[in-house]
Amino acid sequence: MRKVDEIRALFPILDRKVEGKDLVYFDNAATSQRPRSVLDLQQELCSRSNANIHRAVHTLSMEATEAYEKGRDAVRDFLGAESREEIILTSGTTASINLVAHCFAAAGFLKNGDKVLLSAAEHHSNIVPWQIACQATGAGLKVLEVEPDGTIDLQKFSDSLTDDVKMVAVAHVSNILGVVNPVKQMVAVAHSKGIPVLVDGAQGVTHLKVDVTDIDCDFYAFSGHKIYAPTGIGVLYGKKEWLEKLPPYMGGGDMVESVSFEKTVYADLPLKFEAGTANYVAAACLRPALEIAGELASDAAVATHEKELMAAMESALGSINGVKVAGIDAPERIPLYSFTIEGVHPLDAAMLIDKMGVALRSGHMCAEPIVRRLTGGSSMLRASLMPYNTVGEVEVFARALARVVIMLRQ
Ligand code: ALA
Repeated sequence: MRKVDEIRALFPILDRKVEGKDLVYFDNAATSQRPRSVLDLQQELCSRSNANIHRAVHTLSMEATEAYEKGRDAVRDFLGAESREEIILTSGTTASINLVAHCFAAAGFLKNGDKVLLSAAEHHSNIVPWQIACQATGAGLKVLEVEPDGTIDLQKFSDSLTDDVKMVAVAHVSNILGVVNPVKQMVAVAHSKGIPVLVDGAQGVTHLKVDVTDIDCDFYAFSGHKIYAPTGIGVLYGKKEWLEKLPPYMGGGDMVESVSFEKTVYADLPLKFEAGTANYVAAACLRPALEIAGELASDAAVATHEKELMAAMESALGSINGVKVAGIDAPERIPLYSFTIEGVHPLDAAMLIDKMGVALRSGHMCAEPIVRRLTGGSSMLRASLMPYNTVGEVEVFARALARVVIMLRQ
């Protein structure tokens, strides 16, 4: 059996049909599909061990708690973090970044006149939380432009780190450009000036082998549902020294050691940041999801397959007259292609190609500033692939897109 067939066999949804055609699912950067091991664990926990975690001594609660904490351990191993206390489980990348932005400001690390440095290609979830933190403190955003090929110039980055910059927040991989940012080098430069760095890893974890200790970032955020796990679970890695300096984000059950009307003592890390009843089923599913992700990331045959997918996508997109692909010339990128087609509205194309069984993303893709800079409008198409996609699917996509273009240009 070919490697890709073995991978596909793990994901039951890939057998379904849409509009009578074999599904070609190319919207993985929005949400990836779940393997059987994740679906089975979801089912098993819901039907056998459903109970609240960390709160009771009965069997079901103990089983649920163990499953939840195994999810945390899987994340620690996956990210190469030094300790499990540095892994905060949240509802997703958005919640993770909101947590850091809010607490960083609340702790007094952002003051009137300070700046948060972002790249021009950030997702809304790495822009808006910082805008809110800036509004609360009188600080402001500073935006680093990306180069015409979508890359970040390290010298320009270094020059932009003036004394007023107190935080750098940057995507590991832009969800529009697909370009891999040199986050390790950026962290080294920022740290040489005493500035912490948050990396939005939502698109990074899915295709790169990530080691937060090696990158040396202060915070790293990602979402479960983009890496084979369910929705409603996400991760915030934070260096212990930072997490200890930040106040809690939300107050409530599970994040406290003791409560009285006079004084509350907060729980130690990581629970200090995990108020309320967690999505323990989804958290537990991080373990099988990251097991698969880890295996795929370290398999040379998968790396070769991804290169073939990228070559096929680049030739497919290059063969259609009037297609412009963002970040296509960048030296290091993932199989994620945002593009426009001259004379074709992205939404019309996405709707029509869906009738041919092909799922693409369309719109501003939660990154309106870079989409506007690239297109002058607010909409693009995006095809984003995972290792379970095939070169055959790329050929189906290419034929379907060519038909769509002919139909819409008539
Ligand atoms: N962040 C998701 C995307 O890029 C929703 O599509």
